[in-house]
Amino acid sequence: MGIVSSLSCPKCGWKAPSSRVFQCTTCAVVLEACVEIKHLTRSHLLDIRKRPDATIWRWFEFFPIAGRSAIVSLGEGYTPLLRAGRLGEEIGLSRLYLKNDTVLPTGSLKDRSNAVGISRGRELGFKTAAVISTGNAAASVAAYAAAAGLQSVVIVPAGISPAKVIQARAYGAKVVVIKGNFEEAARLYKTAVQEYGWYDCLSTNPYRNEGKKSYAFELFDQLDEHVPHWIIHPTAGGTGLYAMWKGYSELVSLGWAHRLPRLVAAQSEAAAPIVSAFEKGLAHVEPVTARATVAESIQVGNPSSMGWRGLEALRSSKGAAAALSEREILEAQSLLACLTGIFAEPAGSISVAAARRLRTQGTIAQGDLVVCNITGHGLKQPSAITISDEELRPIAPDLSALQGRLQKAESSARGGKV
Ligand SMILES: Cc1ncc(COP(=O)(O)O)c(C=O)c1O
Repeated sequence: MGIVSSLSCPKCGWKAPSSRVFQCTTCAVVLEACVEIKHLTRSHLLDIRKRPDATIWRWFEFFPIAGRSAIVSLGEGYTPLLRAGRLGEEIGLSRLYLKNDTVLPTGSLKDRSNAVGISRGRELGFKTAAVISTGNAAASVAAYAAAAGLQSVVIVPAGISPAKVIQARAYGAKVVVIKGNFEEAARLYKTAVQEYGWYDCLSTNPYRNEGKKSYAFELFDQLDEHVPHWIIHPTAGGTGLYAMWKGYSELVSLGWAHRLPRLVAAQSEAAAPIVSAFEKGLAHVEPVTARATVAESIQVGNPSSMGWRGLEALRSSKGAAAALSEREILEAQSLLACLTGIFAEPAGSISVAAARRLRTQGTIAQGDLVVCNITGHGLKQPSAITISDEELRPIAPDLSALQGRLQKAESSARGGKV
């Protein structure tokens, strides 16, 4: 049984008077869910690792859910951890692994967060889950709300392409488009959450932020209790860095893991506030104006809720950070697809670009055990792949035309080789 002892402030230690208060009234930071795990012993670990449950819920005791009956699951977690021999050879890493989260139920890492967040929301008796998002979070919240029997509302700013919210709509979400920019839509979202008592599914929700601890637990299990030297994470709000750090810290506190992995933030140059704060040695993350980038799912200029916690996780793990160019990101996407068979969206492939850069710089050594989180499916953003009109032009149904086309395809593949 998961014992949720309280929500408390990570700065001043204030304890929330209710399970529905998510922010410290003094420090104005997102509270942290504290789950009682001190009683767990080595024999619990052996028991957990033997459980047949191939989802994040094998590690139920570590999540802020009081009873298993509240769990809302679509089979999330225990995604494949693949040894990437050919890709590793290409970028100079002999022990490269890929954590393939493209196969999560809605195609992105957000399912780790929402499985936990929505389960807790249902346990607390909320009826409507809400989020402001144009992409992966919207689809994931809508899917888990549908599975839980809750309503869902997805707020989006005007001007976004309908393709972005189609998946959320398919799960039955009410999609509401707001005139104005993202900040204006966000202000309305905040007001509506208060006014209508919706369950807030952003990173301002402490329960949801615990979900990505599952990376730490699964990797620990899948690597047979070994801890990687490096885990590289496509980074936007900072939740993944924070949660992996917390998950591993819990394993260390129990004496199960012997050390923390070094965490790496991989961001697009166009939106790299966490990388920049890390490199400048700042104690907080300064917002930037995010520019357009192929890594659109991680285009966050102001990670105001959890950015500072992600930054702390990077520092405390003696990690690293890399801001990648558009070219590096697209090359990584192509290498990943062509050398491993994993088709990830550009944002989800950026960890590979960071591995390549840090290896070239010598930050990561050739024999280090490296895990790249691959966080979103390529079909989320098919427009990132170009296919020329020439390739699509039909040929005559005869062998010599086929031969000509195959030769052309061969030379353009060679030309386009990264
Ligand atoms: C594909 C993808 N990768 C990674 C992230 C990283 O988010 P975070 O830094 O909050 O873990 C996101 C979410 O914004 C995402 O959609």
